Amino acid sequence: MSTADEYWDTIYTIKDPTDVSWYQQSPRTSLRLIESVARSDDAIIDIGAGVSTLIPSLASSGYTQLSALDVSARALDQLRSNDLAGDVRFFTADIRRWEPPQQFDVWHDRAVFHFMLETADREAYLATMNAALALGAHVILGAFAEDGPQECSGLPVVRYSISDLTQTLGPRYDVLASEQEQHHTPWGSVQNFNWIVARRAR
Ligand SMILES: C[S@@+](CC[C@H](N)C(=O)[O-])C[C@H]1O[C@@H](n2cnc3c(N)ncnc32)[C@H](O)[C@@H]1O
Repeated sequence: MSTADEYWDTIYTIKDPTDVSWYQQSPRTSLRLIESVARSDDAIIDIGAGVSTLIPSLASSGYTQLSALDVSARALDQLRSNDLAGDVRFFTADIRRWEPPQQFDVWHDRAVFHFMLETADREAYLATMNAALALGAHVILGAFAEDGPQECSGLPVVRYSISDLTQTLGPRYDVLASEQEQHHTPWGSVQNFNWIVARRAR
């Protein structure tokens, strides 16, 4: 069994970024939810950014304090090769073992938390998130819904209802919004996602 970095580096070596199930030409839901809570000078981090179009879209929309984290150095190299407006910080790390060097105003995760299969993985992820977010910061989390796929990129996932996501964040967070999304893969199948937007209140 390969480690997470080896697994994902291989995926990003053999696959074109536009030929993976999670590809979006425009990350509309993420952009709208981020715009609903963030100012342009807020520190925003995309967890498991991969080669997503989110960071380039935010950079060209005028967000000035962007960070991208991924376990795959290969993915971040490809993301970095975009002609990004402004400075973006890149962190090659496994989110379960990362020590954030700063706090963030917005934590965005699309299709990464659902890979945290064991209780220990989820606890480690949430401990990192809590360390990275001060009171008043926002979390935007999108995961496969309870009726979504059982696997992503050949790996098993945990599926979440909106209520599961609320419980996962726990009492420190006030939920501001939630929604369902149907993601259309490049080959036309539909994947149901659930999204939650929450504010750290305690
Ligand atoms: C399904 S892709 C989603 C990519 C991107 N968020 C998007 O929506 O296009 C999952 C991403 O999470 C990254 N990833 C998986 N496990 C991780 C971990 N433990 N720590 C950090 N990144 C991880 C993978 O390398 C991959 O880029």
